[in-house]
Amino acid sequence: MSLKSRGATLESASRSGMTRSCTFLCLCCFFSGMFFTNRMWTTPSLEDNKRNQDSKFNHENIIHKDCDSMPRKVVWLNGGLEEASNSTELTEPLDQTIADLERKVTVARAQQKAVDSSFPLLDSSKIVNSKSRHKYFMVVGINTSFGNKKRRDSIRATWMPQGEIRKRLEMEKGIILRFVIGHSAIPDSDNAIEEEDKMYGDFLRLEHIEGYHELSGKTKTYFATVVSLWDAEFYIKVDDDIHVNLGTLGIILSGYQGKPLVYLGCMKSGPVLAQKDVKYHEPEYWKFGEVGNKYFRHATGQFYGISKDLATYIFKNQNLLHKYANEDVSLGSWLIGLDVEHVHDKRFCCGTPPDCEFMAKEGSTCAATFDWRCSGICNSNTRIMEVHEHCGEDEKTLWSSSLYKFGED
Ligand SMILES: *[C@@H]1O[C@H](CO)[C@@H](O)[C@H](O)[C@H]1NC(C)=O
Ligand SMILES: *[C@@H]1O[C@H](CO)[C@@H](O)[C@H](O)[C@H]1NC(C)=O
Repeated sequence: MSLKSRGATLESASRSGMTRSCTFLCLCCFFSGMFFTNRMWTTPSLEDNKRNQDSKFNHENIIHKDCDSMPRKVVWLNGGLEEASNSTELTEPLDQTIADLERKVTVARAQQKAVDSSFPLLDSSKIVNSKSRHKYFMVVGINTSFGNKKRRDSIRATWMPQGEIRKRLEMEKGIILRFVIGHSAIPDSDNAIEEEDKMYGDFLRLEHIEGYHELSGKTKTYFATVVSLWDAEFYIKVDDDIHVNLGTLGIILSGYQGKPLVYLGCMKSGPVLAQKDVKYHEPEYWKFGEVGNKYFRHATGQFYGISKDLATYIFKNQNLLHKYANEDVSLGSWLIGLDVEHVHDKRFCCGTPPDCEFMAKEGSTCAATFDWRCSGICNSNTRIMEVHEHCGEDEKTLWSSSLYKFGED
């Protein structure tokens, strides 16, 4: 039961009775807040991203709101907390009651912890399979930054459906598309994004401060946020200078539906760069064995995807996962120790025309296209149009592909 619905139960409880001191109520709120924190985090409402995000990162607000609306006479249903349903009990010394609550909360938390650590995946599947959540097929987050409006516009003008069509895509195909960006230390930049969001409504704001050194943090926050907002089978990240064919991507992913632990992309294992002042320098090179070694296989950063249970794993363990200097290496490192299927597919890293055209003629349409040498499409603001013209999928692919099923239980 979430805090909110419990609040409703409380409201419906009898309002007669004696007045209780607000201090006591707030303490109750606080302890119950701690007690229910897990559940609150894992059953967000789906409708309003922003509000949802706020609530997720702002427990205190909720707790305080609940406190305000608390009725005078409290019945703790369903908790481990004792009934305090009449005046006799309320005259008990406050200290004693609080001490009692505190003890019970401690016990309950310890039990919850034990359950979590013995059955992490079992527990997580319970969260994400909750019947009340709307099901989606995939969430595609487009990593962007404050100065990249032109890139966003070029994506809006090519492969990302707009307005009503994007909404239909969410409802009918279970495909969520958002530009993903954190916050800025400069208020002006934040305001500009808010204006743009008012116009297009296609942003997902992360609790993350954008900055050169926090790339891996963004990846982690991205997966933790999307998995708690949308119950999807796959969570994808692409950069904002990549061309994507959504229908083709959907068809490829449908081949992995039902597999809980898939990690998809173009797998590489570049050299671990020990020397300073080079691009992609690895300050923790000593962790990877002898100098000159290569990394474990990991999906290249322009495009990658993971299935639901892996995103849930990142969500639950976000405080434990180490951030390496390179964000794609970080993701690979979080997954290398798990029972994960690494899926390498060339259609996730096609070259710009004529490469992708050639691939299409050979019968394998590309899902993601970019230039390796620019790590995205070179001059993507303008050249993405050309890529779209030559290598864009037939529009029907997206709307007619009934290969994947979602939302059916
Ligand atoms: C009030 O509390 C006392 C002690 O817990 C209990 O014996 C009694 O039945 C309660 N009365 C009502 C009306 O709930
Ligand atoms: C997001 O894109 C920027 C370039 O705009 C890139 O430098 C950064 O590594 C990307 N971050 C993630 C988390 O993919």
